[in-house]
Amino acid sequence: KQALEAALEQKQAVIQQAGITQALEGEWVDVTLPGRKRAVGRLHPVTQTMREIQRIFAEMGFQVYRSRDVETDEYNFQLLNFPPNHPAREMQDSFYMKGGSEDNPTLLRTHTSPGQIHAMREYSSKDPENPPTVRIILPGMCYRFEQITARSEIQFTQVEGLAVGEHITFGDLKGTLSDFARRFFSPDVRTRFRASHFPFTEPSAEMDVECFVCHGEGCPVCKRTGWLEILGSGMVHPNVLRNGGYDPERYSGFAFGMGPERLTMLRYRIEDIRYFWRNDMRFLEQF
Ligand code: DAH
Repeated sequence: KQALEAALEQKQAVIQQAGITQALEGEWVDVTLPGRKRAVGRLHPVTQTMREIQRIFAEMGFQVYRSRDVETDEYNFQLLNFPPNHPAREMQDSFYMKGGSEDNPTLLRTHTSPGQIHAMREYSSKDPENPPTVRIILPGMCYRFEQITARSEIQFTQVEGLAVGEHITFGDLKGTLSDFARRFFSPDVRTRFRASHFPFTEPSAEMDVECFVCHGEGCPVCKRTGWLEILGSGMVHPNVLRNGGYDPERYSGFAFGMGPERLTMLRYRIEDIRYFWRNDMRFLEQF
């Protein structure tokens, strides 16, 4: 019995030792090897711009209002004061969808402006006699049935803004948007407003910032004008206020719309809008 137990013990020790030797030889770690690179994800450059716009307006007291991508002709055009055959509707050749009726077809929104009506109706329904003031931005995807080129895509984002209250003036519009430009581009950026036309605002204006490549001298980026157009804006048209449940005799407001793709392109001097949807890592990794 003793002889057997001793032999067993000895064999066990040999097997154990062999196991340890094998593990030491086969599983050793070379601590001098370089570590594994960890891939770091980032936000898409347009998402970064959207978030920055939202942050700046949040600081000024604007809340985010989300509105649907699938709209009706009524909200996308009619309630925004586009009459049925208004020429501006042609600029926004739309993606129509099944559903809706002949005089009110369903479509993908061509701009974020229909959200203005949804928001005003929701706010004013809370207290129709004394509708509350509105101070919102409406970020979202828009769609246009257009030729895809270096300058236009069929799918892009917009950030709309809307302020409605009892004593809102064009001065508030200019002050708010100039301040936005200073916060977004640089504290000393110069801005100018040019008269323009949109059916849903009166008067309407486009805002330019001084070209930050040539500082107003004139260069290829600003097409030698010294200025870069960055957004459309205006005082909310009385018909639009009324369609939202706000009495234009008592309330006024301003609205604006800007394109984060365009702002991103200007800021980084990206020359082709198609890069944004191409998912080319060599492009995306730069931001
Ligand atoms: N909806 C316009 C567009 O798609 C942009 C715009 C212009 C929005 C003026 C506004 C505005 O709210 O006041 O080009």
